[in-house]
Amino acid sequence: MCGIVGYNGNLDAKEILLKGLEKLEYRGYDSAGIAVHNEEGITIFKEKGRIADLRTTVDSEVEAHIGIGHTRWATHGVPNRLNAHPHQSASGRFTLVHNGVIENYHLLQKAYLKGIPMQSDTDTEVIVQLVDLFSKEGLSTVEAFRKTLRLVHGSYALALLDHEDAETIYVAKNKSPLLVGVGDTFNVVASDAMAMLQVTDQFIELHDKEVVIVKKDSVEISTLDGRVVERKPFKAELDASDIEKGTYPHYMLKEMDEQPSVVRKIIQQYEQQEELAIDEDILQAITEADRIYIIAAGTSYHAGLVGKEYFEKMAGIPVEVHISSEFGYNMPILSEKPLFIFISQSGETADSRQVLVKITEMGHPTLTVTNVAGSTLSRESDYTLLLHAGPEIAVASTKAYVAQVAVLAIAAYVTGKARGVALDFDMKQELGLAANAIQSIVDAKDVMEEIAEDYLKIARNAFFIGRNIDFCVALEGALKLKEISYIQAEGFAGGELKHGTIALIEEGTPVFALVTQEQVALNIRGNVKEVVARGANACIIAMEGLEEDGDTLIIPRVHPLLTPLVSVVPLQLISYYAALHRRCDVDKPRNLAKSVTVE
Ligand code: AGP
Repeated sequence: MCGIVGYNGNLDAKEILLKGLEKLEYRGYDSAGIAVHNEEGITIFKEKGRIADLRTTVDSEVEAHIGIGHTRWATHGVPNRLNAHPHQSASGRFTLVHNGVIENYHLLQKAYLKGIPMQSDTDTEVIVQLVDLFSKEGLSTVEAFRKTLRLVHGSYALALLDHEDAETIYVAKNKSPLLVGVGDTFNVVASDAMAMLQVTDQFIELHDKEVVIVKKDSVEISTLDGRVVERKPFKAELDASDIEKGTYPHYMLKEMDEQPSVVRKIIQQYEQQEELAIDEDILQAITEADRIYIIAAGTSYHAGLVGKEYFEKMAGIPVEVHISSEFGYNMPILSEKPLFIFISQSGETADSRQVLVKITEMGHPTLTVTNVAGSTLSRESDYTLLLHAGPEIAVASTKAYVAQVAVLAIAAYVTGKARGVALDFDMKQELGLAANAIQSIVDAKDVMEEIAEDYLKIARNAFFIGRNIDFCVALEGALKLKEISYIQAEGFAGGELKHGTIALIEEGTPVFALVTQEQVALNIRGNVKEVVARGANACIIAMEGLEEDGDTLIIPRVHPLLTPLVSVVPLQLISYYAALHRRCDVDKPRNLAKSVTVE
């Protein structure tokens, strides 16, 4: 989704901003721009398309040491040069970049900006015009900025330049992520620490409705009513090499390859005196709950479905799993002692955050399972369990899903033990075996490439079926395929196909069937026969011990509850190769954003 960078120091601002934007490319965007400020004034460069396209338009002759930049993922107005940020006020005095959505921009435009010609179709432009208007009424820039922000409803991360002040970037945020990075002779702004790791690893987190005056040698944070706030920087625990592709052609491939080590790292991180453990406070919060409500979106929602199986089967606690964007309108009748678990790789997903805000207001305990320490969801919930998966850059989530499933398995197992549930297996050992099984699959990429070629080369659509826990993985397999290869794909409970969707099966339709659960193995094989009888090209992925002659792929045997960690991996790889065959941009699929920071 949109990304913001800003630099105020002594070095070449253009290059730092462009490099920063390149580091934010993974979030997904469709246009980009920068504005730099020097004694000649503010110069804007912006372009539809990739940062590489923007680079070609940037005049290398322009020297500047202060500037702001933006990658835009279109919400209001089509992706084109005109709607790309930065936006400038009609007088040319103020220049602004914005992430988020201004819900009342139409009303504000009608109430305050009649007669001011708008240059773009964006909601953002209203903000910059209002700052200009209020400054013309005699307010200082910071007061005009604050007055504007008091009128605005919605989410925003903002960075503003004033033509009349070449020393300052004005910054503010509400609901959208934004950090200020600090250095000895410079300060920076970034939606994500990764963008500015090139110059610093020290960052100050900003809270909602704070305004920041960023000079090259000072950072002053204040509230909308002008109260100054002191906050110390934290060190971003990121290694610059974690966010490089190395010799891999794509981040997605690198991240799939990292999955065995991610599981091993999780075992280490959650081990205390040779036993798996989670923080005592978290354990208490889970054991005290009479019902768990899991809230998540996309792949994280699919991990949540697996988490439900875990908490119910290993800990004996009933669980509901909800899509975060739906929960606000469809809140179920809550139990007496609910615990809310938010699952989010990024910890920034706006749909999940709006539920967190509501639930926090209601006073219920909240736990976030996330890959990003210090993310909004982590900061704003009572407890956090970290995924320890390292940065996930590819838009398609792979290692984070595996990490989510592994961490949920540990949390449920530890809770079950604490509640005295008889669990006759050693989760640590079983997770170790699952890591080995994942390794053997990522080592057999050529097999997955062949399957992709055989089943998906000319496919228009595909189905993924499974029963029980395999159904959860079928949903994730279908999401992976559609998001990166653009092949229409659906995940189904095996038994459900014949209630309608089987009408779509025709000669050659690929159907991927998962067979990892003994108690339903015969049933799912029955479903495979039904689709094959109608012409489907069935790819059967079976677990060792449940295989039959003619199965396409046999995956190593692991504990029946941990099969999602393993069976998802061939589906990820098959999707990857299908996308490559179609020459799709695997790491940056069209229309998608890595972290979805608008509701
Ligand atoms: C999946 O590959 C996607 N990246 C997407 O579905 C993602 O899982 C979803 O947007 C939720 O993101 P989060 O885990 O960062 O909250």
